[in-house]
Amino acid sequence: MTLLTDRFSRTHRSLRISIVDKCDLRCAYCMPEEQQFLRNEALMTREEIRTLATLFVERYGITKVRLTGGEPLMRRDVAEIVGDLAKLPVKLGLSTNAMRLHLFLDRLVAAGLKSVNISLDTFDAERFRQIARREGFDQVWANIQAAVDSGLRVKLNTVVMRGVNEDELLRFVELTRDRNVHVRFIEFMPFAGNHWGRDKVYTYAEMLGRIGSAFPIEKLDDEPNSTAKAWRVKGWPGTFAVISTVTEPFCGSCDRLRLTAEGKMRNCLFAREETDLLTPLRKGEDLDALIRANVLAKHEMLGGLPRFQPDKQDEVLHDLSTRPMVSIGG
Ligand code: 5AD
Ligand code: SF4
Repeated sequence: MTLLTDRFSRTHRSLRISIVDKCDLRCAYCMPEEQQFLRNEALMTREEIRTLATLFVERYGITKVRLTGGEPLMRRDVAEIVGDLAKLPVKLGLSTNAMRLHLFLDRLVAAGLKSVNISLDTFDAERFRQIARREGFDQVWANIQAAVDSGLRVKLNTVVMRGVNEDELLRFVELTRDRNVHVRFIEFMPFAGNHWGRDKVYTYAEMLGRIGSAFPIEKLDDEPNSTAKAWRVKGWPGTFAVISTVTEPFCGSCDRLRLTAEGKMRNCLFAREETDLLTPLRKGEDLDALIRANVLAKHEMLGGLPRFQPDKQDEVLHDLSTRPMVSIGG
């Protein structure tokens, strides 16, 4: 087995696979208003996803796989794809907006899924409509409860944006008071077409300040390659964590690789280069040199972007990723 190690001696163990780039929501932080989606022929087939995932696991020692989109439940064969990958010796996860989870929940659990990450940015139906540019709060909330009841491990992902939803922070933390729920607050990140601005980033430090002044909180141990810094309110069963990509990047311990829905490999969320694996796979060519070159080229931090500095107000940092998040896969 060849481990995938970059120029900074980081070994990569985790692979995120986008299985479709479409979404039934249109979150403003994730995609521009007018997003062009791929045609079906451009997407990896179920068989190609299984082939590539198996290659990464058996030949390169990947031990964690997460299925993402767009919205992975936009694919009718998502439960079959989960069933294929659940047979591999990996920790398998799925990230979803939960809009269609009621249509798939039983089949996903039966196929072997153990955990889901669900996006939820607000408890207010009107605000949901503004953020997601679609109706959906009641359906999503019902589906989150069904997911918890089904025995899946549920993490909620919340993108915190100043002036949009930072006033709901404590309400999210309160979900952990009597439920074994894990809430992860994500700093608002810059992607193509998402109108990012430094002033809209509600920082890790601000989140801790606000939560810590309302509740007694304590730091928890983080898993070695975790991107989230975990905390809890003392005595409460659930936990919360912050993904501080912007103000405190964790690139030094990042072990993630990504495949887009059209089979392009990316070594970083913010990468400006990618390697087409699907075309050579379809021609029956060997992928080893391509995969290893892609990992070796990984930058030390943020795909080579400058680090966020709160005082440098005039520095242009927005839209530096070549793709909107919806087509990278979270
Ligand atoms: N900043 C932070 N997280 C984002 N996501 C999408 N866009 C952004 C952004 N600009 C994450 C959210 C969402 C998942 C699909 O990707 O967690 O739930
Ligand atoms: Fe869809 Fe998730 Fe992007 Fe929202 S954040 S548009 S739900 S992929």
